[in-house]
Amino acid sequence: MLRNALPNIVTELPGPKSKAVIERRKKAIPNGVGCPAPCVIAKGEGAMFEDLDGNTFMDWVGGIGVLNMGYSQPEVIEAVKAQSEKYFHTSINVVHYPEYIELAEKLNSIVPVKGDEKKTILINSGAEAVENAVKFARKFTNRTDIIVFTGAFHGRTNLTMTMTAKIKPYKFGMGPFAPGIHRCEFPYMYRRPAGLTEKEAVDFYLEKLEMMFLEYTPAEEVAAIIIEPVQGEGGFIIPPIEYIQGVRKICDKYGILLIADEVQSGYCRTGKFFASEYWAAAGAAPDLMTSAKSIAAGLPLSSVTGRVEIMDSAAAGEVGGTYAGNPVSCAAALKVIEIMERDDYAGKSRAIGEKCVARFNQWKDKFEMVGDVRALGAMMAIEFVKDKASKTPAKDELAAVVAECAKNGLITMSTGLRGNNMRFLMPLNITDAQLDAGLDILEAAIKKIMK
Ligand SMILES: Cc1ncc(COP(=O)(O)O)c(C=O)c1O
Repeated sequence: MLRNALPNIVTELPGPKSKAVIERRKKAIPNGVGCPAPCVIAKGEGAMFEDLDGNTFMDWVGGIGVLNMGYSQPEVIEAVKAQSEKYFHTSINVVHYPEYIELAEKLNSIVPVKGDEKKTILINSGAEAVENAVKFARKFTNRTDIIVFTGAFHGRTNLTMTMTAKIKPYKFGMGPFAPGIHRCEFPYMYRRPAGLTEKEAVDFYLEKLEMMFLEYTPAEEVAAIIIEPVQGEGGFIIPPIEYIQGVRKICDKYGILLIADEVQSGYCRTGKFFASEYWAAAGAAPDLMTSAKSIAAGLPLSSVTGRVEIMDSAAAGEVGGTYAGNPVSCAAALKVIEIMERDDYAGKSRAIGEKCVARFNQWKDKFEMVGDVRALGAMMAIEFVKDKASKTPAKDELAAVVAECAKNGLITMSTGLRGNNMRFLMPLNITDAQLDAGLDILEAAIKKIMK
């Protein structure tokens, strides 16, 4: 059964059938929609997929954080089928439907934003969730400006592309960009200024945030500061909790809203249902939280949750969208949340994190190229460097490791401004045998490329 299979490559890659489809893709789809994979999927189950040529791959990218529950979860399929037979679509602006309301109620009960009474809006994508969080923050505060960070990724619409840091490939030649966005330096502990302890570095980066109000925009004009609890496209960089506590204090001091962008970190990826739970436990709960990606096991859906006063600051008709909160996606999401709670996906995430980090740390001792290991639950990264002393990013070497893994049936992906971090987003229901097999493939690839 594919769900319990291990990688097995039986043809050259890409195989002949995949190759033919990839050629058609090249003619039919713009080059700007990139994809390096040497295969075309035929069927997926759990952490595994089979390609058109009968090769079996293990997927440690999960459509970039969308498959925390893996491919084709049978109970989600049943929920989607049942909803499809009732109705595919109606707009929440036209007719009331229970699935949207039930999902909003559920998210209100589990999203750890500040406040006792919460409301949730549903939309379609991560970028749309961030756009809406900004709209609510501006409406509620009656201020215009937003502070974002170096390394941030918030999407590909004009506003969210502006908020995103990395120029190539995300913004290159695509301006002019949206006004009112100001970028502060993110606390990147591995690359903090030499000589600073972690505590000194936290103070150093918080000082940079305060300086934003002197150099770029007065605090009175700032509606929100938006942070990814673990920077995704930025390289899986984890801000120290003391930094988040400091940001929360700054927000409170100036009446600025704190937005957690949990598009990539949500749905048990980090060892909690939402990474913001770590913030809340440290007295630094956000005011607004976005989520998307794994919310509906692959169907398009996203959300923004906040306390009632913020969420009711927009009048009827000022927010929404034709497909926003699609009933089939909502039915999938309700099932996803039920299963994640029932089967303790947060616990699974912590267990995967512990196992992998133990192995990654052995590699850090053994291999000069493994510079840093970062993890919050199963949101993990290895930063590849030419050597530990210089920390020079080893982008090409990592690209070779990714290609070598793919050759052996393990799909991985790099991330980060410098393209030298391997990110791990394996399904959280991966079997132990699959996890071990994947780690063996990766270790062999690192060894081979190091030589
Ligand atoms: C933190 C974060 N915010 C927003 C987005 C944008 O999401 P989408 O691609 O669904 O628009 C992403 C996508 O990777 C993300 O990681």
